[in-house]
Formats: sequence, structure tokens, C-alpha cells
Amino acid sequence: MGHLISSTSMLQAAREQDFGITAFNVHTLEMLQAVVEAAEDTNTPLILQTTVGTVKHLGPEYIVAAAQTAAKQASVPIALHLDHCTDYELLVQCIRAGYTSVMIDASMYPYEENVRRTQEVVKVALAAGVNIEAELGKVGGVEDDIVVEEEDARLAVPEECAAFVEVTGVPTLAPAIGTAHGIYKGEPKIAFDRLEQIYKQVGVPLVLHGGSGIPEEQVKRCVKQGMAKMNVATELRIAFSNAIKDVFTANPNENDPRKYMVPAKHAVKELAIRKMEMAGCIGKANAVR
Ligand code: 13P
Repeated sequence: MGHLISSTSMLQAAREQDFGITAFNVHTLEMLQAVVEAAEDTNTPLILQTTVGTVKHLGPEYIVAAAQTAAKQASVPIALHLDHCTDYELLVQCIRAGYTSVMIDASMYPYEENVRRTQEVVKVALAAGVNIEAELGKVGGVEDDIVVEEEDARLAVPEECAAFVEVTGVPTLAPAIGTAHGIYKGEPKIAFDRLEQIYKQVGVPLVLHGGSGIPEEQVKRCVKQGMAKMNVATELRIAFSNAIKDVFTANPNENDPRKYMVPAKHAVKELAIRKMEMAGCIGKANAVR
């Protein structure tokens, strides 16, 4: 492809053609390479994403440089997204560094304040040709340093979603529909009726958060009912870390990083392909160009 692209057109194509694009949170170069290889091997469009914590850990320039290198070498479309950002300054810094998609998460504020903060980001991001995602309702669980207790999680209200998209002009919306970040204690209780109403009332692509641990049939149903993007973070971290733990269990004295990074990379790649299959985006690279 040559360069990172905005995720707007990718997600619009996904919405129009009824499939979901997987967005993977990566924390290391190997995780990034693993999901890129998964996309390349299966001709699948890809959204790479990083949390604010990872941006602070690695620096936006390093992340952008790695993602741009991937995009330059890859034959599939790739976007780079900033996940759950609450900090306007950091968000602008990431856009300047070369992120092609950002999430302004002001879901912890009252509706009017969420609107105001989202509008502020829409203005700068759209001018830069960058996609914007905002959240309505409140997704439960733990994502980096954003912690939402179960009792504070809130489903998005369909009428509010429609009004929000209208007044902010946000090109992608993440409505809370009962999924949560992290690993579920039981099965997630997804409000499919709510999703159906939101999809009917909102014309922009919708984003499913909390993609780890959602059973396959439920992922498929979410996609069928209009989720154009599925975020996956926790399960990838677990796969990566478990593969490393396995190496050290078998060989506690291992001290060559390649010996544990290579299996970790394979584990992430395999899992990424499984998630892509669930979301239905395998082989869809040409559909989003
Ligand atoms: P999981 O950690 O549950 O996969 O959620 C990912 C996510 O929604 C990131 O925004």
C-alpha cells in the first residue's frame, strides 16, 4: 500500500459490506509485526492500535515509524489508531506524529461535555484527514488506566447516539452495548436489541469494544447487526505473555530475547487470525481500498 491510511474509509466499507475489521492493541514491535503478518498472510485490512499507556511507554514517534514501515512493506491497507485517549494534548501529539485514527474517550463526562470534547477533536482530526472514534454509554472493565466498575458501566441510548453523531460529526461511534474490557467472568450480556436500534438510527460505522473473550456466535451476531470494528487487547497480551512464560518454564536460563519473542509472536499471530475469522474480514483487503 505504501503508507498508513485513515480508518474512516475502511470502516465505511465494512459497514456497507457487512463485515467487521479487527483492531489489535499492540505493545511491542513483535506484537505489531505479528498482527501485520496475520493480515498479510490472509489479505486482510488491519487497524493497529495502541493505548495511551503504550504511547507513553514507547513514544509516538517510534510507534508511528514501526507502523509506517509495516504499511510501506505490506500489500494490505493498514491504519494506526490511538485507543481511549482522554487527553487532548496527547491526542494532537499523536496526530502530528502520524496516527491516522484517534479515539477521544469522554464517556466519563456528562453528555454535553462528551459532545464538547468530541467536537474539539473532530475539528483538528478531520482537518488532518484522521478518523475519530468517540464513546457513548460507558464500557465496563479495565483498559490501561481507565477503570470502570461493573455497577458504573452504562449502555448507550439510541436516541442519544443519533443526536451525538449529528451534532459532533464524529465519523465512528463506540456505543456501549454490554461488553467489557478484560476477561469476562461469565458470558458477556450483550444488549442486541439495543445494538439493533442504534444501528438503525446511526449512519456511521460502529465499534465493538471488549473483543477479548466474546464467544464466536456473539461476535458474529454483533458484526451482523452492524459492528464494523472489533477491538481486541487483553487476549493478545495473554497469548504473548503465556508463550514467553512457557519458554522460561522449559528453560529458566534462557537469555536470548529472540528465543522467547519468536514463540510469543507466533502465538499473537495465530490468535489474530482467529479473531479476524470471527469478525469476517479475512480476504477483505480489496473490499476497503
Ligand atoms: P479487550 O481488552 O477486552 O480485548 O478490549 C479491547 C478494547 O476494547 C480496547 O479498546
